[in-house]
Amino acid sequence: MKNIAIFASGTGSNAAAIMDRFIEYDDIFVSLAATNKPDAGVLDEAHERGVPTRVFTKKELHDEDYMHDLLLGIDVVVLAGFLLKIPPFLVEAFQGRMINIHPSLLPKYGGKGMYGMRVHEAVLENNEKESGITIHYVSENYDEGDILRQEKVSISQRDTARTIALKVQKLEHEHYPKIVEKLVRSLPENYD
Ligand code: GAR
Repeated sequence: MKNIAIFASGTGSNAAAIMDRFIEYDDIFVSLAATNKPDAGVLDEAHERGVPTRVFTKKELHDEDYMHDLLLGIDVVVLAGFLLKIPPFLVEAFQGRMINIHPSLLPKYGGKGMYGMRVHEAVLENNEKESGITIHYVSENYDEGDILRQEKVSISQRDTARTIALKVQKLEHEHYPKIVEKLVRSLPENYD
């Protein structure tokens, strides 16, 4: 049996797609949906599905004892639009067991401040012919960990930042839950 925690700060559509994938599984559970934003959409998505939630502050995120208690029994941490930087002790504790998704083909259009529509606007301004998603392990720097998977969409002259965002979001919902499952299933039974 494996337990997943999702961290999300935004609307929570990826968190919802992941919760939906595992809803009827009896060996993998989304056991926690946590956020730093008391009004984050992920809280409603989790409540609707009976997934336990927690709101924590930035200070609590950096408190080793607090996070240790919160993540007791959690095998994999999935970031889904989580906008705070993960502290080094957590990166270390979940080495190879914490992943993130980014709405561009990293290393392009990543890093601090690159999220949401800003990413797609930058892609458009630079006349890119393609964009996509990157799923990667979490490291100490924003959007820089080893890449697990990238998927692409092509961009036509008629695309706007909004239409690119929609295409990219479709890819996210299709692939992120599958990659989460693949990672969870690849873990050994016991690890420290
Ligand atoms: C997603 O597009 C995700 O790729 C992005 O936040 C969005 C969250 O949407 N993450 C980043 O930009 C990380 N740097 P959601 O709340 O609807 O899942």
